[in-house]
Amino acid sequence: MAKEKKVKFKESIGLDIGSHSIKMVHLKKLHQGFKLLNYEIRSTIPDGMEPVQSDLTSDRYAPVLSGMLKSMKINPKKVKHIVSSIGGDNTSIKQIKTIFLPDEELESALFFEAKKHLPIGGSEMLLDYQVINVEEKTNNMNILLASCTKDLLQEHSAILAASGLTPGIVDLESLAVANSFALNSYLEEGIYVILNMGIFKTNMVIYGPKAKFFARDVGWGGYHITKDIMKQKKMSYEEAEKFKIEHGLKEDDDKADSSSLLALDITEKTAVEMIVQEVKRSIRFYVKEAGNSDFRKLMLVGGSAKLKGLPEYIADQIKLETEVYNPFVNLEKPEKFQQKQDPQLALALGLAMRPE
Ligand SMILES: Nc1ncnc2c1ncn2[C@@H]1O[C@H](COP(=O)(O)OP(=O)(O)OP(=O)(O)O)[C@@H](O)[C@H]1O
Ligand SMILES: [Mg+2]
Repeated sequence: MAKEKKVKFKESIGLDIGSHSIKMVHLKKLHQGFKLLNYEIRSTIPDGMEPVQSDLTSDRYAPVLSGMLKSMKINPKKVKHIVSSIGGDNTSIKQIKTIFLPDEELESALFFEAKKHLPIGGSEMLLDYQVINVEEKTNNMNILLASCTKDLLQEHSAILAASGLTPGIVDLESLAVANSFALNSYLEEGIYVILNMGIFKTNMVIYGPKAKFFARDVGWGGYHITKDIMKQKKMSYEEAEKFKIEHGLKEDDDKADSSSLLALDITEKTAVEMIVQEVKRSIRFYVKEAGNSDFRKLMLVGGSAKLKGLPEYIADQIKLETEVYNPFVNLEKPEKFQQKQDPQLALALGLAMRPE
Protein backbone atom coordinates (compact mmCIF):
# COMPACT_ATOMS: atom_id res chain seq x y z
CA MET A 1 0.00 0.00 0.00
CA ALA A 2 2.93 2.25 0.69
CA LYS A 3 4.08 1.74 -2.86
CA GLU A 4 5.59 5.14 -3.52
CA LYS A 5 7.86 5.15 -0.44
CA LYS A 6 11.56 4.58 -0.91
CA VAL A 7 13.08 1.37 0.34
CA LYS A 8 16.33 2.04 2.20
CA PHE A 9 17.53 -1.27 3.64
CA LYS A 10 19.95 -3.64 1.87
CA GLU A 11 18.60 -6.93 3.17
CA SER A 12 15.40 -7.73 4.92
CA ILE A 13 13.60 -10.49 6.73
CA GLY A 14 9.85 -11.03 6.65
CA LEU A 15 8.50 -13.11 9.49
CA ASP A 16 4.99 -14.54 9.61
CA ILE A 17 4.34 -16.36 12.88
CA GLY A 18 1.14 -18.34 12.33
CA SER A 19 -0.80 -20.67 14.62
CA HIS A 20 0.32 -23.62 12.50
CA SER A 21 3.72 -22.65 11.20
CA ILE A 22 6.37 -19.98 11.03
CA LYS A 23 7.24 -18.60 7.63
CA MET A 24 10.45 -16.65 7.07
CA VAL A 25 11.70 -14.98 3.90
CA HIS A 26 15.16 -13.44 3.46
CA LEU A 27 15.48 -10.87 0.66
CA LYS A 28 18.19 -8.74 -0.83
CA LYS A 29 17.27 -5.33 -2.18
CA LEU A 30 18.38 -4.82 -5.77
CA HIS A 31 18.62 -1.61 -7.74
CA GLN A 32 15.15 -2.48 -8.93
CA GLY A 33 13.09 -5.04 -7.08
CA PHE A 34 14.30 -7.84 -4.83
CA LYS A 35 16.23 -11.07 -4.92
CA LEU A 36 15.11 -14.07 -2.90
CA LEU A 37 18.07 -15.23 -0.79
CA ASN A 38 16.32 -17.91 1.22
CA TYR A 39 13.08 -18.90 2.90
CA GLU A 40 11.71 -21.54 5.23
CA ILE A 41 8.36 -22.83 6.48
CA ARG A 42 8.38 -24.77 9.74
CA SER A 43 5.40 -26.23 11.52
CA THR A 44 5.10 -25.50 15.25
CA ILE A 45 2.64 -28.35 15.80
CA PRO A 46 3.94 -31.93 15.89
CA ASP A 47 3.12 -33.80 12.68
CA GLY A 48 -0.16 -35.67 12.76
CA MET A 49 -1.24 -34.29 16.12
CA GLU A 50 -4.69 -32.76 16.33
CA PRO A 51 -4.12 -29.23 17.62
CA VAL A 52 -6.24 -27.94 20.49
CA GLN A 53 -6.30 -24.21 20.04
CA SER A 54 -6.40 -23.37 23.74
CA ASP A 55 -3.35 -25.58 24.40
CA LEU A 56 -1.22 -23.81 21.82
CA THR A 57 0.76 -21.38 23.95
CA SER A 58 3.20 -18.91 22.43
CA ASP A 59 6.26 -20.41 24.15
CA ARG A 60 6.46 -23.06 21.43
CA TYR A 61 7.48 -20.46 18.83
CA ALA A 62 10.91 -19.27 20.00
CA PRO A 63 12.68 -22.67 19.77
CA VAL A 64 11.27 -23.22 16.26
CA LEU A 65 12.27 -19.71 15.23
CA SER A 66 15.80 -20.21 16.59
CA GLY A 67 16.10 -23.44 14.61
CA MET A 68 15.04 -21.68 11.44
CA LEU A 69 17.55 -18.86 11.90
CA LYS A 70 20.26 -21.43 12.36
CA SER A 71 19.37 -23.47 9.29
CA MET A 72 19.08 -20.29 7.20
CA LYS A 73 22.49 -19.21 8.55
CA ILE A 74 21.16 -15.91 9.86
CA ASN A 75 22.81 -14.46 12.95
CA PRO A 76 19.90 -12.82 14.81
CA LYS A 77 22.19 -10.19 16.34
CA LYS A 78 23.20 -8.99 12.88
CA VAL A 79 19.68 -8.63 11.52
CA LYS A 80 19.10 -4.94 10.76
CA HIS A 81 15.70 -4.95 9.12
CA ILE A 82 13.01 -7.35 10.18
CA VAL A 83 9.28 -6.95 9.65
CA SER A 84 6.80 -9.23 11.37
CA SER A 85 3.06 -9.26 11.86
CA ILE A 86 0.34 -9.75 14.42
CA GLY A 87 -3.26 -10.67 13.79
CA GLY A 88 -6.36 -12.26 15.21
CA ASP A 89 -8.93 -11.21 17.80
CA ASN A 90 -6.84 -8.63 19.61
CA THR A 91 -6.16 -6.58 16.50
CA SER A 92 -8.44 -4.49 14.39
CA ILE A 93 -8.29 -2.32 11.30
CA LYS A 94 -10.84 -0.12 9.65
CA GLN A 95 -10.98 2.69 7.11
CA ILE A 96 -12.94 5.66 8.39
CA LYS A 97 -13.87 9.12 7.20
CA THR A 98 -13.59 12.25 9.35
CA ILE A 99 -13.81 15.97 8.82
CA PHE A 100 -10.45 17.59 8.11
CA LEU A 101 -8.37 17.93 11.25
CA PRO A 102 -4.95 19.53 11.67
CA ASP A 103 -2.11 17.22 12.79
CA GLU A 104 -2.10 18.37 16.39
CA GLU A 105 -5.76 17.47 16.82
CA LEU A 106 -5.79 14.35 14.75
CA GLU A 107 -4.32 11.86 17.19
CA SER A 108 -6.57 12.59 20.14
CA ALA A 109 -9.62 12.81 17.89
CA LEU A 110 -8.74 9.49 16.34
CA PHE A 111 -8.30 7.82 19.67
CA PHE A 112 -11.84 8.86 20.47
CA GLU A 113 -13.05 7.67 17.05
CA ALA A 114 -11.22 4.39 17.38
CA LYS A 115 -13.16 3.50 20.49
CA LYS A 116 -16.35 3.80 18.46
CA HIS A 117 -15.13 1.88 15.43
CA LEU A 118 -12.74 -0.76 16.62
CA PRO A 119 -13.86 -3.63 18.79
CA ILE A 120 -10.93 -3.41 21.21
CA GLY A 121 -11.51 -1.53 24.40
CA GLY A 122 -9.76 0.00 27.35
CA SER A 123 -6.51 1.69 28.12
CA GLU A 124 -4.58 -1.34 26.90
CA MET A 125 -5.26 -0.39 23.29
CA LEU A 126 -2.45 0.82 21.04
CA LEU A 127 -3.47 2.88 18.07
CA ASP A 128 -1.85 3.64 14.76
CA TYR A 129 -3.23 5.47 11.76
CA GLN A 130 -2.42 6.45 8.23
CA VAL A 131 -4.06 9.30 6.32
CA ILE A 132 -4.96 7.81 2.94
CA ASN A 133 -6.17 11.02 1.31
CA VAL A 134 -8.13 14.22 1.75
CA GLU A 135 -11.17 14.38 -0.52
CA GLU A 136 -11.02 17.47 -2.71
CA LYS A 137 -14.73 18.25 -2.82
CA THR A 138 -15.66 17.73 0.82
CA ASN A 139 -12.28 18.23 2.50
CA ASN A 140 -13.02 15.04 4.45
CA MET A 141 -10.13 12.76 5.36
CA ASN A 142 -9.99 9.04 4.71
CA ILE A 143 -7.98 7.35 7.40
CA LEU A 144 -6.88 3.80 8.03
CA LEU A 145 -7.15 3.14 11.76
CA ALA A 146 -5.32 0.17 13.20
CA SER A 147 -5.18 -1.05 16.76
CA CYS A 148 -4.00 -3.92 18.90
CA THR A 149 -3.72 -4.67 22.57
CA LYS A 150 -0.50 -3.89 24.39
CA ASP A 151 -0.34 -7.47 25.68
CA LEU A 152 -0.42 -8.95 22.21
CA LEU A 153 2.42 -6.75 21.00
CA GLN A 154 4.47 -7.57 24.09
CA GLU A 155 3.89 -11.28 23.67
CA HIS A 156 4.94 -11.03 20.02
CA SER A 157 8.09 -9.04 20.84
CA ALA A 158 9.00 -11.59 23.51
CA ILE A 159 9.01 -14.41 20.91
CA LEU A 160 11.47 -12.48 18.75
CA ALA A 161 13.61 -11.46 21.71
CA ALA A 162 13.80 -15.06 22.96
CA SER A 163 15.35 -15.98 19.60
CA GLY A 164 17.89 -13.19 19.85
CA LEU A 165 16.10 -10.90 17.38
CA THR A 166 15.38 -7.25 18.02
CA PRO A 167 11.81 -6.59 16.93
CA GLY A 168 11.51 -4.08 14.10
CA ILE A 169 8.38 -2.96 12.32
CA VAL A 170 5.30 -4.92 13.35
CA ASP A 171 2.46 -4.77 10.88
CA LEU A 172 -1.12 -5.88 11.19
CA GLU A 173 -1.76 -9.12 9.32
CA SER A 174 -4.57 -7.71 7.14
CA LEU A 175 -2.40 -4.86 6.01
CA ALA A 176 0.47 -7.22 5.29
CA VAL A 177 -1.85 -9.44 3.26
CA ALA A 178 -2.85 -6.45 1.12
CA ASN A 179 0.81 -5.38 0.84
CA SER A 180 1.98 -8.83 -0.25
CA PHE A 181 -0.28 -8.43 -3.24
CA ALA A 182 -0.08 -4.66 -3.84
CA LEU A 183 3.72 -4.37 -3.67
CA ASN A 184 4.03 -7.15 -6.21
CA SER A 185 1.41 -6.07 -8.73
CA TYR A 186 0.92 -3.06 -10.94
CA LEU A 187 -2.69 -2.16 -10.36
CA GLU A 188 -4.37 1.08 -11.17
CA GLU A 189 -7.96 0.40 -10.42
CA GLY A 190 -10.50 -2.24 -9.53
CA ILE A 191 -11.13 -4.15 -6.34
CA TYR A 192 -9.44 -7.39 -5.28
CA VAL A 193 -10.55 -9.85 -2.66
CA ILE A 194 -7.67 -11.64 -0.95
CA LEU A 195 -8.23 -14.63 1.30
CA ASN A 196 -5.34 -15.63 3.56
CA MET A 197 -6.34 -19.14 4.59
CA GLY A 198 -4.49 -20.46 7.61
CA ILE A 199 -5.29 -23.20 10.08
CA PHE A 200 -7.91 -21.69 12.39
CA LYS A 201 -8.97 -18.66 10.45
CA THR A 202 -9.30 -17.08 7.05
CA ASN A 203 -8.25 -13.50 6.88
CA MET A 204 -10.35 -11.68 4.29
CA VAL A 205 -9.12 -8.41 2.82
CA ILE A 206 -10.74 -6.23 0.20
CA TYR A 207 -8.18 -4.02 -1.45
CA GLY A 208 -7.90 -1.74 -4.45
CA PRO A 209 -5.57 1.18 -5.15
CA LYS A 210 -8.52 3.56 -5.04
CA ALA A 211 -11.04 1.44 -3.20
CA LYS A 212 -12.07 1.47 0.43
CA PHE A 213 -10.03 -0.93 2.55
CA PHE A 214 -11.91 -3.67 4.34
CA ALA A 215 -10.71 -6.58 6.47
CA ARG A 216 -12.21 -9.22 8.71
CA ASP A 217 -11.37 -12.65 10.03
CA VAL A 218 -13.62 -15.60 9.27
CA GLY A 219 -13.33 -18.31 11.92
CA TRP A 220 -12.69 -21.31 9.68
CA GLY A 221 -9.46 -22.63 8.18
CA GLY A 222 -7.48 -25.76 7.39
CA TYR A 223 -8.16 -27.35 10.79
CA HIS A 224 -11.91 -27.31 10.17
CA ILE A 225 -11.46 -28.69 6.66
CA THR A 226 -9.52 -31.62 8.13
CA LYS A 227 -12.23 -32.11 10.79
CA ASP A 228 -14.86 -32.37 8.03
CA ILE A 229 -12.84 -35.13 6.37
CA MET A 230 -12.47 -36.94 9.72
CA LYS A 231 -16.24 -36.94 10.13
CA GLN A 232 -17.03 -37.92 6.60
CA LYS A 233 -14.38 -40.59 6.15
CA LYS A 234 -14.24 -41.75 9.78
CA MET A 235 -10.52 -41.12 9.80
CA SER A 236 -8.09 -40.02 12.49
CA TYR A 237 -6.81 -36.43 12.35
CA GLU A 238 -3.51 -37.59 10.92
CA GLU A 239 -5.17 -39.66 8.18
CA ALA A 240 -7.61 -36.88 7.34
CA GLU A 241 -4.82 -34.30 7.09
CA LYS A 242 -2.94 -36.59 4.67
CA PHE A 243 -6.10 -37.23 2.67
CA LYS A 244 -6.76 -33.48 2.47
CA ILE A 245 -3.31 -32.68 1.15
CA GLU A 246 -3.47 -35.48 -1.40
CA HIS A 247 -7.04 -35.08 -2.67
CA GLY A 248 -8.31 -31.67 -1.63
CA LEU A 249 -11.92 -31.17 -2.57
CA LYS A 250 -11.84 -33.94 -5.12
CA GLU A 251 -12.78 -37.54 -4.40
CA ASP A 252 -10.21 -38.98 -6.79
CA ASP A 253 -8.55 -37.90 -9.95
CA ASP A 254 -10.64 -39.92 -12.38
CA LYS A 255 -13.84 -38.54 -10.94
CA ALA A 256 -12.55 -35.01 -11.00
CA ASP A 257 -15.97 -33.38 -11.03
CA SER A 258 -17.30 -35.00 -7.88
CA SER A 259 -16.41 -32.79 -4.97
CA SER A 260 -16.89 -35.21 -2.12
CA LEU A 261 -16.15 -32.86 0.71
CA LEU A 262 -18.89 -30.59 -0.45
CA ALA A 263 -21.43 -33.35 -0.61
CA LEU A 264 -21.14 -34.47 2.99
CA ASP A 265 -24.22 -36.22 4.26
CA ILE A 266 -24.13 -34.25 7.46
CA THR A 267 -26.62 -31.52 8.15
CA GLU A 268 -24.17 -28.78 9.06
CA LYS A 269 -22.34 -26.83 6.41
CA THR A 270 -18.73 -27.77 5.73
CA ALA A 271 -15.89 -25.40 6.61
CA VAL A 272 -15.36 -24.53 2.95
CA GLU A 273 -19.05 -23.74 2.56
CA MET A 274 -18.97 -21.59 5.70
CA ILE A 275 -15.98 -19.63 4.41
CA VAL A 276 -17.71 -19.05 1.07
CA GLN A 277 -20.91 -17.99 2.81
CA GLU A 278 -19.08 -15.45 4.98
CA VAL A 279 -17.07 -14.10 2.05
CA LYS A 280 -20.28 -13.60 0.09
CA ARG A 281 -21.88 -11.82 3.03
CA SER A 282 -18.89 -9.49 3.42
CA ILE A 283 -18.84 -8.71 -0.29
CA ARG A 284 -22.53 -7.76 -0.16
CA PHE A 285 -21.87 -5.58 2.88
CA TYR A 286 -18.90 -3.93 1.18
CA VAL A 287 -20.80 -3.11 -2.01
CA LYS A 288 -23.52 -1.45 0.04
CA GLU A 289 -21.19 0.44 2.34
CA ALA A 290 -18.50 1.50 -0.12
CA GLY A 291 -20.84 1.90 -3.10
CA ASN A 292 -18.29 0.15 -5.30
CA SER A 293 -18.58 -3.24 -6.99
CA ASP A 294 -15.74 -3.11 -9.48
CA PHE A 295 -14.42 -6.56 -8.42
CA ARG A 296 -11.67 -7.96 -10.64
CA LYS A 297 -10.29 -11.07 -8.98
CA LEU A 298 -10.15 -13.18 -5.88
CA MET A 299 -6.66 -14.22 -4.80
CA LEU A 300 -5.95 -17.13 -2.46
CA VAL A 301 -2.91 -17.14 -0.15
CA GLY A 302 -1.90 -19.06 2.98
CA GLY A 303 -1.33 -22.79 3.48
CA SER A 304 -4.96 -23.74 2.94
CA ALA A 305 -4.93 -21.95 -0.43
CA LYS A 306 -3.16 -25.10 -1.64
CA LEU A 307 -6.30 -27.18 -1.22
CA LYS A 308 -6.85 -28.88 -4.57
CA GLY A 309 -10.02 -27.83 -6.36
CA LEU A 310 -10.54 -24.77 -4.15
CA PRO A 311 -10.09 -22.00 -6.78
CA GLU A 312 -12.57 -23.70 -9.11
CA TYR A 313 -15.11 -24.13 -6.31
CA ILE A 314 -14.80 -20.52 -5.08
CA ALA A 315 -14.94 -19.07 -8.60
CA ASP A 316 -18.12 -21.01 -9.24
CA GLN A 317 -19.75 -20.00 -5.96
CA ILE A 318 -18.73 -16.35 -5.83
CA LYS A 319 -18.79 -15.79 -9.59
CA LEU A 320 -15.44 -14.07 -9.52
CA GLU A 321 -12.26 -15.12 -11.28
CA THR A 322 -10.21 -16.89 -8.60
CA GLU A 323 -6.57 -17.86 -8.53
CA VAL A 324 -3.92 -19.07 -6.16
CA TYR A 325 -1.52 -16.18 -5.83
CA ASN A 326 2.11 -16.82 -6.64
CA PRO A 327 4.06 -14.41 -4.41
CA PHE A 328 7.40 -15.09 -6.13
CA VAL A 329 6.31 -13.94 -9.55
CA ASN A 330 8.29 -10.69 -9.64
CA LEU A 331 11.34 -11.75 -7.65
CA GLU A 332 14.78 -12.52 -8.91
CA LYS A 333 15.56 -16.08 -7.79
CA PRO A 334 18.63 -18.29 -7.62
CA GLU A 335 18.54 -21.44 -9.73
CA LYS A 336 17.38 -23.72 -6.89
CA PHE A 337 14.23 -21.64 -6.34
CA GLN A 338 13.36 -21.11 -10.01
CA GLN A 339 10.29 -23.34 -9.92
CA LYS A 340 9.20 -22.16 -6.51
CA GLN A 341 5.71 -20.87 -5.98
CA ASP A 342 4.01 -21.16 -2.64
CA PRO A 343 1.01 -19.11 -1.53
CA GLN A 344 1.85 -20.01 2.09
CA LEU A 345 4.78 -17.55 1.89
CA ALA A 346 2.81 -14.58 0.56
CA LEU A 347 2.51 -12.80 3.87
CA ALA A 348 6.17 -13.26 4.89
CA LEU A 349 7.21 -11.97 1.50
CA GLY A 350 4.92 -8.93 1.74
CA LEU A 351 6.47 -8.16 5.11
CA ALA A 352 10.02 -8.46 3.78
CA MET A 353 9.20 -6.11 0.90
CA ARG A 354 7.59 -3.45 3.04
CA PRO A 355 9.31 -0.07 2.82
CA GLU A 356 10.79 1.32 6.02
N1 LIG B 1 -1.27 -28.92 0.12
C1 LIG B 1 -2.17 -28.52 1.03
N2 LIG B 1 -3.50 -28.70 0.80
C2 LIG B 1 -4.40 -28.30 1.70
N3 LIG B 1 -4.10 -27.71 2.87
C3 LIG B 1 -2.80 -27.50 3.15
C4 LIG B 1 -1.77 -27.89 2.25
N4 LIG B 1 -0.57 -27.56 2.80
C5 LIG B 1 -0.85 -26.99 3.99
N5 LIG B 1 -2.18 -26.96 4.20
C6 LIG B 1 -2.89 -26.44 5.40
O1 LIG B 1 -2.48 -25.11 5.63
C7 LIG B 1 -2.69 -24.78 7.01
C8 LIG B 1 -1.51 -23.97 7.50
O2 LIG B 1 -1.43 -22.79 6.73
P1 LIG B 1 -0.66 -21.49 7.23
O3 LIG B 1 0.77 -21.79 7.41
O4 LIG B 1 -1.00 -20.40 6.28
O5 LIG B 1 -1.34 -21.27 8.65
P2 LIG B 1 -0.89 -20.30 9.82
O6 LIG B 1 -0.49 -19.00 9.23
O7 LIG B 1 0.14 -20.99 10.65
O8 LIG B 1 -2.24 -20.19 10.65
P3 LIG B 1 -3.15 -18.92 11.02
O9 LIG B 1 -3.03 -17.93 9.88
O10 LIG B 1 -4.53 -19.50 11.15
O11 LIG B 1 -2.59 -18.40 12.31
C9 LIG B 1 -2.87 -26.10 7.75
O12 LIG B 1 -4.21 -26.23 8.14
C10 LIG B 1 -2.53 -27.15 6.67
O13 LIG B 1 -3.32 -28.32 6.80
MG1 LIG C 1 -1.41 -17.19 8.85
